[in-house]
Amino acid sequence: MMDAAAALQSEHEPYRRADACVLVVFGASGDLTKRLLLPALYNLATFGLLPERFGVFAVARKVQSETDFRNAMNDALRQFATTSIDPAVAAQLISSLFYVNGEFHDPATYERLADRLATFTRERGIPDNYIFYLATPPDVFAVIAEQLGRAGLANEHDLAWRRIVVEKPFGTDLASARELNERLRSVFDEHQIYRIDHYLGKETVQNIMALRFANGLFEPLWNRNHIDHVQITVAETVSVEARGKFYDGIGALRDMVPNHLFQLLSLTAMEPPNAFEADAVRTEKEKAIEAIHPLTTEECLTNVVRGQYAAGRVDDQAVAAYREAPGVANNSTTETYVAMRLNIDNWRWAGVPFYLRTGKALAARRTEIAIRFKHAPFALFRDTPVERLAQNLLVLRIQPDEGTSLQFNAKIPGPSIRLGGVRMDFKYKDYFDAAPSTGYETLIYDCMLGDATLFMRADNIEAGWRVVQPILDAWQAGRRQLVAYKAGSEGPSAADELLTRSGRSWHDIV
Ligand code: BG6
Repeated sequence: MMDAAAALQSEHEPYRRADACVLVVFGASGDLTKRLLLPALYNLATFGLLPERFGVFAVARKVQSETDFRNAMNDALRQFATTSIDPAVAAQLISSLFYVNGEFHDPATYERLADRLATFTRERGIPDNYIFYLATPPDVFAVIAEQLGRAGLANEHDLAWRRIVVEKPFGTDLASARELNERLRSVFDEHQIYRIDHYLGKETVQNIMALRFANGLFEPLWNRNHIDHVQITVAETVSVEARGKFYDGIGALRDMVPNHLFQLLSLTAMEPPNAFEADAVRTEKEKAIEAIHPLTTEECLTNVVRGQYAAGRVDDQAVAAYREAPGVANNSTTETYVAMRLNIDNWRWAGVPFYLRTGKALAARRTEIAIRFKHAPFALFRDTPVERLAQNLLVLRIQPDEGTSLQFNAKIPGPSIRLGGVRMDFKYKDYFDAAPSTGYETLIYDCMLGDATLFMRADNIEAGWRVVQPILDAWQAGRRQLVAYKAGSEGPSAADELLTRSGRSWHDIV
């Protein structure tokens, strides 16, 4: 629960309602809108953070009336809300939804949209501030941006701003990410583009910066002199389920590494920014990714493990092999697991390996950053040689069971000096009474305020793809065997070897 000091602080939080604007959601009949965007808007409404004069225009291919759309959203809100529903707040939100039907390639769609937006803002006497949110399949991101440009909807003027929010996946390799950036920027200026990585909406991900830069304790130790290595894990129990068709063309590397895992890596490895401000933060993150040592073809083979799950059991449920999932080719070589060792070539991190792993159908769901400190330098306690001391380990638990723990050695009570590992544990839920959220609240709210700190800049995206491109190329050339792991296990044994060859081991997932 929140203590008195924290409660007092939250009373004075500098939150303010966002300025009047219109949110236009393309692809609004899809899953993202009903599962995440709508519940997030509802939460913002209950916090009093949505603009007083506000509307959401949904643009989608499905032919349906505005009433049908509102009814469907009303049902969805009841199903996916993260808190109990206040009928008055819900009714207010649902009544601010509007529907425009049309094809994304068709200029007539945008003419209709422009007319309705102009009428809406004129009738309500609000500035024509628009957020265009692309919740569509990625193949139409650039098309929509170009059509918005053609319809004159991308141009800002003295009294109004225009912003575009782009979901992932942002490209499927370096070339396609660059092309998408170019096409977006042929219409929108960089300051208008908000590229989403939903990991940045997670409280515990944002907390990495607070932990590092709001405490005097950690930063002096945060470097090669004290840290042995870093492990970043995003383990999922979910299998590919119904996403086979999409996932089989993507795989774990593209789906998770240049975006979510590199967000965690860059927040861990970055230098302190000059200010907590969008460009300062993003510049430091970009520098951290840029400093990753480019992998040679040989290193793509020795330092990267590529796995696919075979049949097994997760949470006591039978899970069929990946190749048997609907939409997946029965001879698919798509990876559902990837692990790698990366080095960062700069003064802070030279010689400190960063081990990354992510996979589906694993033994437990766990996203964490484990920082292993170096051993004590010599054996002061003769009965316990340094290598037998517990490791000094700082674990930032992103999800679930959000918190931070620190492992160190203590004397075991008794007449002789015997040492044992103990753990100090901070759990978010013990201190803060945060209402459950979707993770999209902050992102939508920040976009309304024009704060891009938690969004990716073009160079952040391209830097991530630049690191993984050699791996994609080596795999494309058939240079890396796919290894199998049993669903419900901790991943393939080859991933263990990445660490055991230098005398290290993964922090247990379970
Ligand atoms: C998405 C990936 O971006 O992130 C999914 O496409 C993955 O495959 C998901 O399951 C993980 O997100 P979270 O928030 O559940 O960790």
